Amino acid sequence: MLEQLEALYKEALAEIENVQNTEALHEWEIKYLGKKGSVTLMLRSTGQLPKEERAAFGQRANTIKEALTEAFAAREKAVQDAELAQDLEAGEVDVTLPGRPQPTGGLHPSTQTFRELYRIWGDMGFLVYRSRDVETDEMNFSLLNIPEHHPARDMQDTFYTTEPGVILRTHTSPGQIRSMRELGQNGTQPIRVILPGMCYRNEQVTSRSEMQFHQLEGVVVGKNIRMSDLKGTVTEFARRMFGKNARMRFRASYFPFTEPSMEVDVECFLCGGDGCKMCKYSGWLEIAGSGMMHPVVLRNGGYDPTVWSGFAFGMGPERMTILKHGINDIRLFWSNDLRFLEQF
Ligand code: DAH
Repeated sequence: MLEQLEALYKEALAEIENVQNTEALHEWEIKYLGKKGSVTLMLRSTGQLPKEERAAFGQRANTIKEALTEAFAAREKAVQDAELAQDLEAGEVDVTLPGRPQPTGGLHPSTQTFRELYRIWGDMGFLVYRSRDVETDEMNFSLLNIPEHHPARDMQDTFYTTEPGVILRTHTSPGQIRSMRELGQNGTQPIRVILPGMCYRNEQVTSRSEMQFHQLEGVVVGKNIRMSDLKGTVTEFARRMFGKNARMRFRASYFPFTEPSMEVDVECFLCGGDGCKMCKYSGWLEIAGSGMMHPVVLRNGGYDPTVWSGFAFGMGPERMTILKHGINDIRLFWSNDLRFLEQF
């Protein structure tokens, strides 16, 4: 029996050295070490031996089983390595190829401008307040001191909905009322917010006007807020946005929700004020409407106008983007033409 065992061992060892693939490896394992494998059977038959031989035989059989198990594991690893190398060589996977490029999108030019505006106003202590696009007639006009038959309504041709009194906002100014009411806590807290977002007007669409466009509104309410604060704040913004030497000009104007009101101009950054096509040879670019908040508006926002004061401004980010990049047609912004968008 012992000789038979040794012969089996030699045979199994010799065979495993010649195993070249996973399949053959599996067959070998069944043949020798499986439940009905010859080495397994040999071990099981130990009991049939005469008593004196059993111990020595059993011991040897166990040693051989262990040795074969080890040999199997070593061969298994070698076979797997070889098969992997073969696959690579056959070109199934070429790990040296560069990866497939993932096309990355870009940010819309308006988004880029907004991010710059958020950064600047954020640094200056302003919170971003998101107001709604679908508004009530009352918020959009009446509460901003634009009564029903006021001619100022004609300047903002409005999209009405089938729901009475519900419209698309024509400017971001209704956010003044909402932010004052929400953040002012019944007129007890000062606020300092910017209100970005899309506005809608029933305009004839041309290269110079769109029926949807962005605005960025600003609102500051506090005690002792004065015209000089408005001028200083807007000037500081312009320096950060257009360069620290940017010169400013304020022109008297009219808005129903501010008193006094003014337009803010910045010196044309293309020609430096000499006059060029971009500034229509005036040397100045209009960047915002603004003013001291009208007492009626402050009261509608929940503040006592004898105690509180504030200023507001509204600017057009698309206009800034147009000026910055020399874009000649405003319709390009929302026409989703990649040939345009990919340039930014
Ligand atoms: N809402 C005005 C418009 O759309 C812009 C504006 C002007 C906003 C003056 C203001 C402001 O907050 O003070 O034409």
